[in-house]
Amino acid sequence: MPSVPPARTRPRGARAAERVVGRNVLRREGREKLTGQAIYVADLAVDDAWWGTTVRAPHARARILAIERDPGYDWSRAVVVLAADLERRGYANVAHLIHDDQPFLAASVVEHAEEPVALVAAPSREEAERAAAHLRIRYEPLEPLLDFEGSRASFASYAIDKGDLARGFAAAATVLEGVYRFGAQEHAYIEPNGMIAWPSRDGVRRVQGSMQCPFYVVHALARLFREPEAAIRVVQTTTGGGFGGKEEYPNLIAGHAALLADACGRPVRLLYDRAEDMAATTRRHPGRVRHRSGLDSDGRLLALEIDVRLDAGAYATLSPVVLSRAVLHAAGPYRCANVRITGTAVKTNTPPNGAFRGFGVPQVAFALERHLDRLAAAAALDPVELRRRNLLADGETTATGQAVADAGASRQALAAALSRSRWRSTRRAHAAYNRRHPTRRRGLGLACYFHGSGFTGNGEIRLGSVAAVELAPGGRVRVLASSTEMGQGTRTVFAQIVAETLGLPYERIETVDPDTAEVPDSGPTVASRTVAVVGRIVADAARELDRALAARVGRPPGRRWTVATFERAARRHLAAGGERRFEARFANPAGQRFDDRAYRGDAYATYAWAATVVEVEVDLVSFEVEVRRVVSAQDVGRAIHPRLAAGQLEGGLAQALGWGLFEEVVMREGRMVNAQLTNYVLPTAIETPPIELAILERPFAHGPFGAKGIGELPMDGGAPAAVNAVAAALGVDLTEIPATPERIAAAWFARPPQERGA
Ligand code: MOS
Repeated sequence: MPSVPPARTRPRGARAAERVVGRNVLRREGREKLTGQAIYVADLAVDDAWWGTTVRAPHARARILAIERDPGYDWSRAVVVLAADLERRGYANVAHLIHDDQPFLAASVVEHAEEPVALVAAPSREEAERAAAHLRIRYEPLEPLLDFEGSRASFASYAIDKGDLARGFAAAATVLEGVYRFGAQEHAYIEPNGMIAWPSRDGVRRVQGSMQCPFYVVHALARLFREPEAAIRVVQTTTGGGFGGKEEYPNLIAGHAALLADACGRPVRLLYDRAEDMAATTRRHPGRVRHRSGLDSDGRLLALEIDVRLDAGAYATLSPVVLSRAVLHAAGPYRCANVRITGTAVKTNTPPNGAFRGFGVPQVAFALERHLDRLAAAAALDPVELRRRNLLADGETTATGQAVADAGASRQALAAALSRSRWRSTRRAHAAYNRRHPTRRRGLGLACYFHGSGFTGNGEIRLGSVAAVELAPGGRVRVLASSTEMGQGTRTVFAQIVAETLGLPYERIETVDPDTAEVPDSGPTVASRTVAVVGRIVADAARELDRALAARVGRPPGRRWTVATFERAARRHLAAGGERRFEARFANPAGQRFDDRAYRGDAYATYAWAATVVEVEVDLVSFEVEVRRVVSAQDVGRAIHPRLAAGQLEGGLAQALGWGLFEEVVMREGRMVNAQLTNYVLPTAIETPPIELAILERPFAHGPFGAKGIGELPMDGGAPAAVNAVAAALGVDLTEIPATPERIAAAWFARPPQERGA
């Protein structure tokens, strides 16, 4: 566990007068979680609710020949919903997302194992499962496509071009190619997925459950039932983690629960257990990245040619946007005049892969940072020196030609990570240790990376998110947004932002879990956008409130209120019939411009920057990797709540180490065969090393109080830093993760005996 308090580098001129922002105020939902009073979806008591269950396909690809009910079973206490029922009732069997290719229930062909084929509800879980077992489904298995390298069915592809690649390579002194492969990853949130749905009453269907994006569920259900969005009410329950795994998949579960509620005329709970959640729901995209790059004799990057291939699974779901973010980050935080990046997301007959913290960036960062270590070796350069010579400086341009004002934060991060890890002296100590020790080897690895805050390109403009603040009784202010709390601190930081904007005490600001009947659509809780994008809109809404009250009592806006003056102004405002609720809408404050067709321009309004050093010790008998230490410097713009920010950074780093070293999704014939936590090996507190953080704060002018998005950044670079450390410790080449003991042993024994000291 983290043993070292984070160091913070405050921006010059940070307002000393700030009272709430930048402080570790009491976390909003902490007490109810600690005392066990938090109500998760599985804890909700609902009178007369039935239990739902999902019947899933056992084949990776098959034709459905017949679905029959066992005539010997008493079906009077169960309801069954099939694709044919949706058609009969005039519902749209389309899980609405990007391509609209995924059905709620397979109709004639199943495209992946675990695909929902039938839904069953009954008064108890046992009865529902028993009834489901009495459905006789006959399939004709078809030849599945399981190898993503061989797939020609593409859901999306992109290309980015900058400069003249051929000229760059022609002038290069060193050219190196590499292929980097990565596996899937399970989100492993503590709370599995679950939803409760009520039948339509007074023209409104209600769904309540664990999720990141309440309005995504509204959009999906409105489409399914062919109803206006106002006819769908979605309420988030306390959510035990998401990491992207509750971004799009809850749409499907909500639809299933609502279909069952519709069929039986009662509320229905549809709760996944761990095995079903792991086997059937989304995972991080596996795939590979090819690199070919050229370096001049001074170690400067002259040409970068990168091809990204992601395995999307059977339906498009979010793969086009995951791929888009992957290609936009593929060249990393480095300067290079000649770049060509291509990417494609291809279909296989496996469960769709989806959103997962990092959203395509961990994959490309692994490939690039591993490649740079190999490139440094090929050019006889120090890996630190190679990065130092090529990191972007303030005002230089990324692969899309975006001039990044604060790119220098990446150099600052590198310097901080190197000095705090005592890179040079530690490497010398390792060399001595490795000469001395018969069976253990130590190594240090480095990765530099960046992450764009918010939706890609014009995404935020298209979303046009809205947030609101509302005058509540007792001179209080309530924040209204659809951004969900899922462990990261949304409720706390929104209250801090509003408190600071108005100059009111933190305790005076209320935050609630979203109910779409009450909150405006501030967009999904994804893409590291909650603080950087929605937090800004929340602050803007608070400024609207401030202006209205200030005008009411005839004082200039933008001054701190006292509780007494605020209460007086609010009373006078309401007595005069003034508005209770103040909204603000996203307004592209950063003036971002992006060309969607050419893939050129400002891909993101801002980026957060990081450098991470990992120290490992590898056992030459078991090939077990012990991560001894992680040192990470991350530029967050501004830490609204330093302790919560550190929690995001530590958690993301631990999750990244898991993906790089331990977590292996084992697929056989298109099914995950280790869908349980006994043999899907996650890092626990024991495997999580001390993490030393340097939180750098280079403010983003358009973020609330300078904040950038940091939810995903820490996930991006931990894996390559760890694998670079293992490679350095053993002098081996590793190009595939997870770098399990088996893979490390194979790399070690591939070395000539004299180099192994045998
Ligand atoms: Mo996310 S992976 O943008 O929920």
